[in-house]
Amino acid sequence: MPPRHLLALDQGTTSSRALVIDDQGQVQALAQREFPQHFPQSGWVEHDAMDIWRSQYAVAQEALAQWQAQARPGETRTLAQVAGIGIANQRETTVLWDRATGLPVAPAIVWQDRRTAPACEALRQAGHAARLQRRTGLVLDAYFSASKLAWLLAHVPGARQRAEAGELAFGTVDSWLIWRLTGGRAHVCDASNAARTLLFDIHRFAWDDGLLRLFDIPRAVLPRVVPSCGWVADTDAALFGIPLPIAGVAGDQQAALFGQACFAPGMAKNTYGTGCFMLMNTGDEPCRSTHRLLTTVAWQGPPEVAANKTYGLEGSVFMGGATIQWLRDGLGLIQRADEVQALAASVPDAGGVCMVPAFAGLGAPHWDPHARGLLVGLHRGSTRAHIARAALDGIAQQCADVFEAMALDAGTPVQELRVDGGASRNDVLMQLQADLLGVPVVRPRQTETTALGVAYLAGLATGVWTSGAAIAAQWGVARRFEPTVSEAERADRRAVWRDAMRRSRHWARA
Ligand code: G3P
Repeated sequence: MPPRHLLALDQGTTSSRALVIDDQGQVQALAQREFPQHFPQSGWVEHDAMDIWRSQYAVAQEALAQWQAQARPGETRTLAQVAGIGIANQRETTVLWDRATGLPVAPAIVWQDRRTAPACEALRQAGHAARLQRRTGLVLDAYFSASKLAWLLAHVPGARQRAEAGELAFGTVDSWLIWRLTGGRAHVCDASNAARTLLFDIHRFAWDDGLLRLFDIPRAVLPRVVPSCGWVADTDAALFGIPLPIAGVAGDQQAALFGQACFAPGMAKNTYGTGCFMLMNTGDEPCRSTHRLLTTVAWQGPPEVAANKTYGLEGSVFMGGATIQWLRDGLGLIQRADEVQALAASVPDAGGVCMVPAFAGLGAPHWDPHARGLLVGLHRGSTRAHIARAALDGIAQQCADVFEAMALDAGTPVQELRVDGGASRNDVLMQLQADLLGVPVVRPRQTETTALGVAYLAGLATGVWTSGAAIAAQWGVARRFEPTVSEAERADRRAVWRDAMRRSRHWARA
């Protein structure tokens, strides 16, 4: 029997997960571990890269053991039945390590970390934003890796000299995990992760010397860029008993786009996690955004699915599920996050209450770090149910802003939105979303789309699947939410939101 299972590693911001997935796209085993978050100063967010590695390795072992233990009587399950490993990861988070010891030389700077915002502002003032957008597709922001790496090289004692001497290695989290998985034999990152650094030319698919100079990054620290689908390296035999091929790698949001089988231009997905990440496949040419979205590499390869390079447009909303957490932890309005659905459903609408969840500023397409949360329209009849409903509406409205910007950038209407992530299980939220978008919102049967995406990439590289059509055939709908309001009502709700949002803008600066 040829190997028909894949091990998918999903290294996220707050937890490491590992899943064993079979050739039907079914999850056979799953293990998950949270790891510590560090907030040493206001606006700083750090991870210990060793925590990332240890938790990821531990769950990989756990998931494999679980899968083996579930063998039916008479059945033997061995690692020889695992065709390969796929890796999806939190993106932009920046790791710098010593090539000789394999140990990090400083805490990893997490994508949420804002310490380099002033440095980015200075570059913007100096007029570099337009060139950066042309080359990398990104906005000049502390979110991306370049300014974080520059910070590490400037602040870790001896780092710059050691980096120039080729003693240090930089990597996004995929790169770091692959280094550890291969016992230091492979220093690589995939194109979808490289595209999140602000150092990668997404047209030429190469690190850009001009940008390296701008951020003062020595070439010697950079990983080699590899396709998202294809053999990368074998794992160190000591880790799992036998070497396993690493054959699929992608940033977690791009992986989810793949896992949702959004293989054709114009197809889009939205992941409702802590924040919301919407991505649309734009085909083999980068689509330059004029509406403040990001142009990004969706994946490189596989030839069975598309031309060599596939690009995407992306917009992120900072407060998605985190808005519901705030209702629970900040307001004490609910005890458990999943209570929000029943509470919001107990009223027909928000009763004129409007919430702008700009707790951490506003992300795409507004990019206003100074906006702050707003609750407006309260009256004596307002209840906690109205506030819960307004919170869900606020999440959906922000996503609608991104969706509209995407359609304008792409120049074509988007037919439907495929959804995943924890809050996509909330029916009230999904119905609000469909009503605000005016197109169906589609929840698939399998919502583990991030892990599935890299399992598919690794499976295509190792022959478990042989076509995109075979994968698309496994994608199935659990529930489809059709829009239920008239165009006039939708326009009205959007206008009320825009008015409220305008009032939340620039607040922290005042
Ligand atoms: O860009 C950041 C994103 O990749 C983080 O994803 O799944 O860790 O919230 P997640």
